[in-house]
Amino acid sequence: MLEVRDLTVTIGTEDGAFEAVSEVSLSLAPGEILGLVGESGCGKSITSLAAMGLLPPQARVSRGGVFLDGEEITRLPPHRRLGQGSGRIAMIFQEPMTSLNPVMRVGEQIVEAIRVRETVSEREARARAVELLDMVRIPDPARRIDNYPHEMSGGMRQRAMIAIALACRPSVLIADEPTTALDVTVQTQILGLIRDLCDSLLVAVLYITHDLGTVAALADRVCVMYRGRIVERAPVADLFRNPTHPYTVGLMACLPRIGERPETLETIPGSAPPLGPRVSGCGFAPRCERARPDCRDDPLPWFDTGRDHVALCRYPMVEREP
Ligand SMILES: Nc1ncnc2c1ncn2[C@@H]1O[C@H](COP(=O)(O)OP(=O)(O)O)[C@@H](O)[C@H]1O
Ligand SMILES: [Mg+2]
Repeated sequence: MLEVRDLTVTIGTEDGAFEAVSEVSLSLAPGEILGLVGESGCGKSITSLAAMGLLPPQARVSRGGVFLDGEEITRLPPHRRLGQGSGRIAMIFQEPMTSLNPVMRVGEQIVEAIRVRETVSEREARARAVELLDMVRIPDPARRIDNYPHEMSGGMRQRAMIAIALACRPSVLIADEPTTALDVTVQTQILGLIRDLCDSLLVAVLYITHDLGTVAALADRVCVMYRGRIVERAPVADLFRNPTHPYTVGLMACLPRIGERPETLETIPGSAPPLGPRVSGCGFAPRCERARPDCRDDPLPWFDTGRDHVALCRYPMVEREP
């Protein structure tokens, strides 16, 4: 239903243009959570903003596009993407305080989101707002509906944001680092809520994070992104059992294991260099222990494990377990 096909986004800067996102393809089905994971700056948010039609002015889709139920939406103005029809995309961000209006009661903001798309009376909209607050498990919703955002905790505000996102009855929900600003207990609750909403409402969720650990707990399938490209795509269990791209293997080595102290973590040598003019071949080659000279050659091959699991690599780590 949501399909991103060969999406390439070019950003213009004073020093020239660069590709922030290169040939990204992914698809999402109803009731499915797709994790999009990668280090800061790898292009996750630009990918999601392109799908929402909310790219900053200096960025543009230079190739490929985003399709919703078969219709290309990349070049539609944002109000058409979010407006009528079966397919709607809603988004929640990391910091609800920046997206909630601080001088408006939470309930009014939900009512407004409902009435932008549906002609219902104030009373009906308010009743539905209470329902939505209940659905995101805000206790005592009939009272909480009259709270201002600052009267709520961080976790409660993120739930309110989710309620606003659901007010337009979306078929796709993009959650961009939705729990990064929250403490671990609240994070677990919010991720559990997203899973339950996905299952009960059959929304498709694009879950964006730099945290491979939460992906393991939440996603059905995972795309790993590095320097603007998807480098590995797999069902979540298979990704963790058989990481195939050397970058993914490095990411997993950075995951803390229970009982381990952070000082003992392995890390990938080097850091992702800033994006500049397109280099040929594999963007990870400069940091990769397995790289050979032909890793600088284009085009890179997709290695197919045969388990709906592919990696963009010439010398992938091969399967270790059956
Ligand atoms: N408004 C912008 N202007 C210029 N460059 C940007 C802008 N937004 C993002 N970028 C650049 O695009 C790349 C991808 O950024 P982003 O998608 O925000 O990464 P992520 O969400 O994975 O951390 C980065 O190199 C970032 O510096
Ligand atoms: Mg981001």
